[in-house]
Amino acid sequence: MNLSDLQILKKEVLEKANNATTLESINEIQISYLSKKGEIPKIMTKIKNVEDQDRAVFGQTINSFKKELIKIVNFKLELLSKNEKVQTFDVTQPGQWNKIGSSHPITMITNEICSIFQKIGFTVADGPNIETIWNNFDALNTPEDHPSRDKQDTFYLENGNLLRCHTSPVQIRYMKSNKPPIRIISPGRCYRRDTPDSTHSANFHQIEGLFVDQNVTLADLKGTISYFAKELLGKSVKTRFRPHFFPFTEPSFEVDFMHPTAGWIEVLGAGLVHPNVFKNIDYDPDEVSGFAFGMGIERIAMILYNIKDIRDLYENDQRFLRQF
Ligand code: PHE
Repeated sequence: MNLSDLQILKKEVLEKANNATTLESINEIQISYLSKKGEIPKIMTKIKNVEDQDRAVFGQTINSFKKELIKIVNFKLELLSKNEKVQTFDVTQPGQWNKIGSSHPITMITNEICSIFQKIGFTVADGPNIETIWNNFDALNTPEDHPSRDKQDTFYLENGNLLRCHTSPVQIRYMKSNKPPIRIISPGRCYRRDTPDSTHSANFHQIEGLFVDQNVTLADLKGTISYFAKELLGKSVKTRFRPHFFPFTEPSFEVDFMHPTAGWIEVLGAGLVHPNVFKNIDYDPDEVSGFAFGMGIERIAMILYNIKDIRDLYENDQRFLRQF
């Protein structure tokens, strides 16, 4: 081999090594050129046959050829074997999976309560968060001077509407566009100008219930509520009706359930639909009667899940939410 042959070979091989993209091809280059029986050691033994005037340059060329090739091969070996590692698939490794979200406790309680009532023939009705003053107060027989109408308590909008302060206006909406018999349950958001603390929030959730038919009595209300209490907390739970006042029901009650650990807990407001409410939506109170009830979902969630601060329900802290 003469000097110019060597120079051509060097250029070709270095180029080939530089372009090698697989571990296999770089190994092949290493074996063919650098191993003991490889091309480069073979050429080195033949330096003595090179013509005198070229011998020095030939020697330098084969030496730098060897050095450069070793450098490229080592670099490529490291790089490609790293990639190779990433590409290997270890079947003994546990699988990777993405965390799956879970329902919010408010959603879980809402769904549970709705399904308890759906089992006895109630359907779910919906109403808007922005209500008319008439649906939220007047139609529900709320006197002009009732404290809940105060600007301190209710969010009024500039256009004369308001953010509903309870789910009861759904009763009015539903009765206006449907005929008895009516059996509805209606979950949703409510708004009150409460200063947030561990038990108050300006935005919370209620579930409203309404049953209207002929000859509905207090016994129907009591039977329905005690069925609900047993489904929610277990067969042995007791219920207690305490006289109360709501403008839209007469008589009115606050209802407590006996919780196995928390004792008596106030769960709902309820009563027989006030005749004035029927009159306001053109039902004849001599022909129809009914009962209504409403409950705060946060309160129930806090008792069932032993949550001490209502604000935990709104902060979306994953560590809190993953517990449910
Ligand atoms: N709307 C009442 C409240 O927000 C609850 C209620 C609903 C009471 C239906 C009686 C009947 O406190």
